[in-house]
Amino acid sequence: MWRQINLLGRDRVLSEKIRPRLREKRGFLLTGQHGIGKTALLEWSAEQAVGKVAFVSATWTVKEIMMAICLGWKLEIKNNDGVVVSKSKYQVAWMEQEILQQSGCWLFVDDIHLVQPSVIRRLKILRDRCHIVAAGVPPFKKEELRRLLWGLADIRIKPLPKAELTRIATLVAPLVASRTPVPEAVNAARGNPGQLMHAMRGEVTPDTAKVKGEEIDISPVLMLVLVCVMCTRYIAIGLESTSLYMLGGLGMGLGLVFRFFLFKGMKT
Ligand SMILES: Nc1ncnc2c1ncn2[C@@H]1O[C@H](COP(=O)(O)OP(=O)(O)OP(=O)(O)O)[C@@H](O)[C@H]1O
Ligand SMILES: [Mg+2]
Repeated sequence: MWRQINLLGRDRVLSEKIRPRLREKRGFLLTGQHGIGKTALLEWSAEQAVGKVAFVSATWTVKEIMMAICLGWKLEIKNNDGVVVSKSKYQVAWMEQEILQQSGCWLFVDDIHLVQPSVIRRLKILRDRCHIVAAGVPPFKKEELRRLLWGLADIRIKPLPKAELTRIATLVAPLVASRTPVPEAVNAARGNPGQLMHAMRGEVTPDTAKVKGEEIDISPVLMLVLVCVMCTRYIAIGLESTSLYMLGGLGMGLGLVFRFFLFKGMKT
């Protein structure tokens, strides 16, 4: 969709963060919540990169990824007898052999948070030979993935201001034959162009729906509850009320149990 209306509202991140890295041939990582525009920025970057460029999704199979790399980098694949074979006969081992001989090429990997171990292993080998630009939704929980991405500059894609979303919505409206009023769609989008597209098509995401990568911070509430419980105990001492004091103690105990499960939940 961004190709039809142009990439709007991203001038700053493009000029200050993405373009310099593309020019200096340095890899980077685009992160942000679902629908924020990572794929759009990754595709734009791939079109701007100079040299041999391949664009893949981490959700593809190893063979599909290897194929896309061979085609993107325009490699000639030879079989065990050294004869160049046609695309339909490509085998992973032959492609891998040719790919590993390359250096300084670009590899753009979308949806890196969904990568499988077999793909991580291949990407790890490529990490030192080509410039990797990846996009995904944090947190990256797999240790292997964190190691693969370690050292890549993290460019966090933020929600767009209302004015930019309004511009996008106005341009998109005739393309998707939208009957949703622009201000309504912009409000429902909450800065997220992906949600804006849904809203324009009439599929408004309810406000209560939690977007992955957009965690709710309940720590201030927890702190307030604990302070109240502690106050209860002091009040109980002042009133010399044993039952209130015990109730405060019980509250503290429950708070600690809740904290234990909360931290456990955060680690998984
Ligand atoms: N700056 C922009 N200007 C115009 N359109 C945009 C912009 N950013 C994103 N879009 C459009 O919004 C939609 C969602 O963007 P995109 O698919 O890039 O999000 P995403 O972060 O990759 O989402 P996901 O995590 O679900 O893959 C797409 O149709 C895209 O073309
Ligand atoms: Mg995407």
